Amino acid sequence: MSKNIPAGILATGKALPVGKITNYDLENIVDTSNDWIVERTGIRERRIMTGDESASGLSTRAAVIALERAGLTSAEIDMIIVATVTPDQTLPSAACLVQDKLGAFNASAFDLVAGCTGFLYGLDVAVRYINSGAARHVLLVGVDTLSPIVDWQDRNTCVLFGDGAGAVVLGRVEEGRGVLASKMYSDGSKANLLYIPAGGSTRPATHKTVEGRGHFIKMNGPEVFKFAVTVMVDSINEVLALAGHKATELDLLAPHQANLRIINFACKRLKMKPEQVLINIHRYGNMSSAAIPVVLDEAIEEGKLKAGDLIGLVSFGAGLTWGAAVVRW
Ligand code: UT7
Repeated sequence: MSKNIPAGILATGKALPVGKITNYDLENIVDTSNDWIVERTGIRERRIMTGDESASGLSTRAAVIALERAGLTSAEIDMIIVATVTPDQTLPSAACLVQDKLGAFNASAFDLVAGCTGFLYGLDVAVRYINSGAARHVLLVGVDTLSPIVDWQDRNTCVLFGDGAGAVVLGRVEEGRGVLASKMYSDGSKANLLYIPAGGSTRPATHKTVEGRGHFIKMNGPEVFKFAVTVMVDSINEVLALAGHKATELDLLAPHQANLRIINFACKRLKMKPEQVLINIHRYGNMSSAAIPVVLDEAIEEGKLKAGDLIGLVSFGAGLTWGAAVVRW
């Protein structure tokens, strides 16, 4: 068997909508309070699409930055993966819209749906294409524009989510660097913990589904919470073992940004210091697939994530899905 070509993230970029909703704004929309939201989630504000912003537009903005930093043209991209549950429209994929906007005429393009774990699923796919030699450069975007599918009458969910996009360009790296191991998981028996009842092929849009608010996110928060704290720790430990490392060797952790209490719990069980854990949930809420690429991009800009660091990435979300990766930056 031929040896795997090492693959890693060459550059990152992000794009966030300009519109902002603070917890105080939400106090005027639903029966909630800034104190409750901060204490139970860590979130203070979130970005919201306005005007002509779109998932493909934000993705393209983030991708242009990542490509420029990687020193590549769009023609050098072999594959575009857009991880999202909120493409501009059901057909075609957001990835094809991004491919057109970038003029990436040598790239295949597809969307990947794995809830908030979408970015890590995309990373797993991209790395294996590069490992095998089937692709040289892959553009991976994690984008979610959740504001149109959040029920702004439901305080259980509307305080949690936000819109944004993060992009990475993956390519060949030197031996011992890049994505050392990654592993993805799923459990569809828990599909009803986080879902949108209508709008798919079994319950297409009708007056009844719209009046019944069937096109918005429904979530059993406490059950997802319990699930998340377990799988976050187990999956990062498992992927560390695959890479031949231990949690104590990690320099940094980039966890999914869904709830600060989930992050703190995982950080404690992994015996990591708070300053080793990348956090931006207070500014953006839960941006689903965009959470990890955006927090990585900010960590690089702030000088927290440096060449040679060992970093763990871990996420969970609708499906249910979860997964982790270990990267030597
Ligand atoms: O990316 C994956 C997506 N999802 C997640 O990761 C979510 C994971 N779950 C969570 O983050 C938490 O479960 C939530 C933040 C969603 C909820 O926090 P919780 O501590 O689990 O609260 P709870 O759902 O058990 O609700 C406690 C109380 C309830 O009132 P009663 O029944 O005790 O009177 C809720 O009605 O808090 C109430 N509540 C609120 N109060 C003020 C729920 N949402 C709000 C709110 N403002 N926004």
